[in-house]
Amino acid sequence: MKIAVLKESLPGERRVALLPGNVTRLARLGYEVLVESHAGVGSGIADQEYSAVEAGLGSRSEILRAADLVLQVRGLGANPDSGRIDLDLLRPGHTLVGMHEPLWRPEAVRDLAARGVTVLALETIPRITRAQTMDVLSSMATLAGYGAVVLAARRLTKIFPMLMTAAGTIAPTKVLVLGAGVAGLQAIATARRMGAVVVGYDIRPAAMEQIRSLGAKVVEIPEATPAAAEDRGGYAREQDEDQQRRQREALAAAVAESDVVITTAAVPGARSPLLLTREMVERMRPGSVVVDLAAERGGNCELTEADDEVEHRGILVLGPTDLPSRYARHASQMFGNNVTALLTHLTKDGTWTLDPADEIAREVTVALNGEVTHPRVREKLGLAPLEVAAQPAPSGDATAPGGIAP
Ligand code: NAI
Repeated sequence: MKIAVLKESLPGERRVALLPGNVTRLARLGYEVLVESHAGVGSGIADQEYSAVEAGLGSRSEILRAADLVLQVRGLGANPDSGRIDLDLLRPGHTLVGMHEPLWRPEAVRDLAARGVTVLALETIPRITRAQTMDVLSSMATLAGYGAVVLAARRLTKIFPMLMTAAGTIAPTKVLVLGAGVAGLQAIATARRMGAVVVGYDIRPAAMEQIRSLGAKVVEIPEATPAAAEDRGGYAREQDEDQQRRQREALAAAVAESDVVITTAAVPGARSPLLLTREMVERMRPGSVVVDLAAERGGNCELTEADDEVEHRGILVLGPTDLPSRYARHASQMFGNNVTALLTHLTKDGTWTLDPADEIAREVTVALNGEVTHPRVREKLGLAPLEVAAQPAPSGDATAPGGIAP
């Protein structure tokens, strides 16, 4: 069975879905890997490094024609404009593996399914212990959280640590992190390591405990952190407008005191909650910096422009959506290891198997042989639930090209 690794088509995207070390591991499972020429360049990997581990090299159309499994970092839903270049090259029998934003842009899954393909969306892998090695969301959020702090530190007119010098004492920078999932906790840890005084807040009580365990202070808003803030999957629930307003009022003082505010609050498949209004930003001191990691889904700050910077009354608001890509080498290393772990899990006795009885296989599959199968994606598209569980498991000998049954 052949795997195609595509060069990312989003302009500026530097990650690649597999590193040469992953190719070797997959070859041991019986897979032949084909890499699009120059796919690794943005991550500092030359074509020869792939050839050295016996990956085939070719053009996009050549490798897509030959492959059964197609790997990319940003699938159509995560690259809705330039991603469309692949639609005409896809055919029934292809299985696409990548980030597809299935709950945010479900229409992309529908469009891919219309080509007859199977789509595995890495975002819907369950957040369970045995799937941790496959958790691309955590890998990318870790890098984004780190990158947000580095970015803020570069743009701030202050340094982070307290210094006692002959020229006087320099007070430590105050950093406020709103949303303490994987990205927020990494931001808190990074800012603390750099010597800032860090305060955090999250709607989930468990996350508030994690903020404290990193040695940071928390903004206490008792009525805004109810136990019901968390769903069964461990994700935050969407708050109603009244809850969000009370939350903003309680956060306003902490925001005004901060030199840096990093926001990471997200709810899967929903617009990012609005945590920072224009008025709240205006109460910050000129020279302060806001980094909004939720920019891709509307942002946590009213002033955020995705992939742009806004200077408002001397306060800089940054909305980068490409932070993991800026650390492309490590991002590709983590992504490649996560995808390799998934492919290893889905290869049973040398055979590629999507077993609906397996929780990971079932959840990661959002479209099967041309039909949108994931219940939450169907709901988002207004499609009726499927009566029968996703059948049949497409399978094929990992050593036999073209092994996936259409
Ligand atoms: P995310 O990216 O969906 O959200 C980021 C953070 O924003 C979350 O902590 C969320 O509670 C917070 N948030 C949402 N609305 C908010 C609001 N109105 N105000 C303040 N904060 C708000 O979350 P992420 O980082 O993907 O993590 C989701 C969950 O998955 C967490 O519970 C995390 O601990 C868990 N997890 C579990 C893993 C496992 O293997 N068991 C691995 C990684 C994460």
